Amino acid sequence: MKNILITGGAGFIGSHVVRHFVNKYPEYRILNLDKLTYAGNLMNLTDIENKPNYVFIKEDICNSEAIAGIFEQYEVDGVIHLAAESHVDRSIMNPMEFVQTNVVGTVSLLNVAKSYWGKRQDVLFYHVSTDEVYGSLDEGGFFYETTSYDPQSPYSASKAASDHFVRAYGNTYHIPFKLSNCSNNYGPNHFPEKLIPLFISNIMENKPLPVYGKGENVRDWLWVKDHATAIDAIFHRGRVGETYNIGGKNEWKNIDLVLLLCSIMDKKLGRPEGTSEKLIQYVTDRPGHDLRYAIDPTKLETELDWHPSVTFEQGLEETVEWYLNNKEWVDTIKSGNYLHYYEAQYGSRIEK
Ligand code: NAD
Ligand code: TYD
Repeated sequence: MKNILITGGAGFIGSHVVRHFVNKYPEYRILNLDKLTYAGNLMNLTDIENKPNYVFIKEDICNSEAIAGIFEQYEVDGVIHLAAESHVDRSIMNPMEFVQTNVVGTVSLLNVAKSYWGKRQDVLFYHVSTDEVYGSLDEGGFFYETTSYDPQSPYSASKAASDHFVRAYGNTYHIPFKLSNCSNNYGPNHFPEKLIPLFISNIMENKPLPVYGKGENVRDWLWVKDHATAIDAIFHRGRVGETYNIGGKNEWKNIDLVLLLCSIMDKKLGRPEGTSEKLIQYVTDRPGHDLRYAIDPTKLETELDWHPSVTFEQGLEETVEWYLNNKEWVDTIKSGNYLHYYEAQYGSRIEK
């Protein structure tokens, strides 16, 4: 494969995947296709935008005519599909947008690939998905590749549907496909509506830190650049028609994570220990809030010899460092639609 179409490459994870592939595989032409929604941002890729093997295309995955033209023009022979609406809270407020992009958009893309590729088997449709499709765990237990789907939020239901369609197209039309389901990512370029970047940004501005419920929900955090190396391993060496779970065995209760983050921020900002912690406010819980996610990554580790490269403490410190050094990125992002959304969403939920 030479011409790889990466969708959603201007977003958080997509930008790391695009950078990884552009730098590591100069022999590939990397086509970054992104609609540039509120979450997509070309500032994420300024360091590679002039590379000869990189092309950016502003387009909506739902526009099948335009996508078909792109397959023809660039002779696409591999797809890494990340474009999606990705924030659970937004999916609770506006589920139809998630159905449109995540379900209709994915099926639309599959249709174009099916028409253009026909019976070719030297091609690949790789769908990047989430562990949230498996639902919520109590204490103990893990998500395996064989765990039944049990999505609980409109976001995870839309991702589950798109996973099913990828497998259905593989089964019915023999499109070679691979799938991965990854745990929560963190790192540079993470949009400041998700827990870690929102709280870093709020601490910088001395704003409240809205912890949902009692802060007892557990998430399994992975350094975003380790997600990119896992995608590389699966794309090149994973078995066609298989699913791989991606995770770094790194479970944190939200409140413990927030306390660690507060302590790192106090040190970095030269504030007395305990300063940021005072910003914590417990707010009304997210409706249908999944209690715990935890990935068993044994298949990926043993079959493809993939392992995470950093500890959580290292990754979190590097993340904080990045946000402190990239205030302009944060300010620019927040000056768009985001601020309006943020106030509508959280302003009213902060319990005084
Ligand atoms: P993100 O919201 O940061 O980025 C999504 C990107 O998709 C944006 O650049 C946006 O402009 C683009 N996009 C949205 N709708 C589009 C459309 N109709 N056409 C073309 N482009 C469109 O998301 P992310 O956190 O980087 O997640 C990327 C993918 O990885 C998603 O599929 C998500 O479900 C999956 N995932 C995310 C996580 C996580 O922790 N963030 C974990 C596992 C899997
Ligand atoms: P989030 O970053 O939205 O990812 P996801 O919902 O996909 O796991 O949230 C991570 C965890 O943090 C989740 O348990 C919800 C919680 N959370 C808060 O407590 N406060 C917040 O302001 C946000 C955005 C999330």
